[in-house]
Amino acid sequence: MRIDIITLFPEFFEGIKDYSIVGRAIGSGKVELVTHNLRDWASGKYKSVDDHPYGGGVGMMLRFDILHKALSDIKSNLKSQMANSQIITILLTPQGQVYKQKMAQDLAKETNLIVICGHYEGFDERIREYVDMEISIGDYVLTGGELAAMVIVDSVARLLPGVLGDDKSSIDESHSPSTSSGQALLEYPQYTRPDEYDGKKVPEILLGGNHKEIDAWRKEQVEERTKVRRPDLLNVG
Ligand code: ADE
Repeated sequence: MRIDIITLFPEFFEGIKDYSIVGRAIGSGKVELVTHNLRDWASGKYKSVDDHPYGGGVGMMLRFDILHKALSDIKSNLKSQMANSQIITILLTPQGQVYKQKMAQDLAKETNLIVICGHYEGFDERIREYVDMEISIGDYVLTGGELAAMVIVDSVARLLPGVLGDDKSSIDESHSPSTSSGQALLEYPQYTRPDEYDGKKVPEILLGGNHKEIDAWRKEQVEERTKVRRPDLLNVG
């Protein structure tokens, strides 16, 4: 998968490129992460990318013409390199659809994503018509889309085949819609050695090795845990 990111701060992404599981996915060629500095499309002495809002108001907005040029150039370059691949364009904004594991799973099936990070007080409204989707990573406002872009890169990259040591690790986890019910619930509790420490014991059932019983216990725990911690997740399929 190739992910192109349009940002005013390409340096932000150096960390994610070099470290952790995403870094490894990039190193092994499963993910190609290409950052583009929006300022490269700006002209004039100061290479300014923003301006005041028409009608007055506080803050500066990213200019439509500059965002549009950046997006069109990147898209047409990609198309000339990979004739038949479908490109999904994403605008990061607190007004977008709230990001969920199901969206990460859907995006992980794509071959090309272009992600636009907003900045300052936002962007000129007209760019909205040129993207396929708008994503918010939660109901709070960040100073820019870079952290949101990293959340998307990380959550999508780990779902690509071969990126996690065991591809099954991403099947049973919290927020992954179950194949049977479609519900995205919280994962059951897990334990590792030692089986007793500071008076705290691992539930007996997990030590017995009866996999049918263990599966039933885990299923129960998923329901119970979700009911207590995130009742809002129940019955939304
Ligand atoms: N830019 C600023 N806040 C954001 C959010 N919550 N999600 C995505 N992009 C953003």
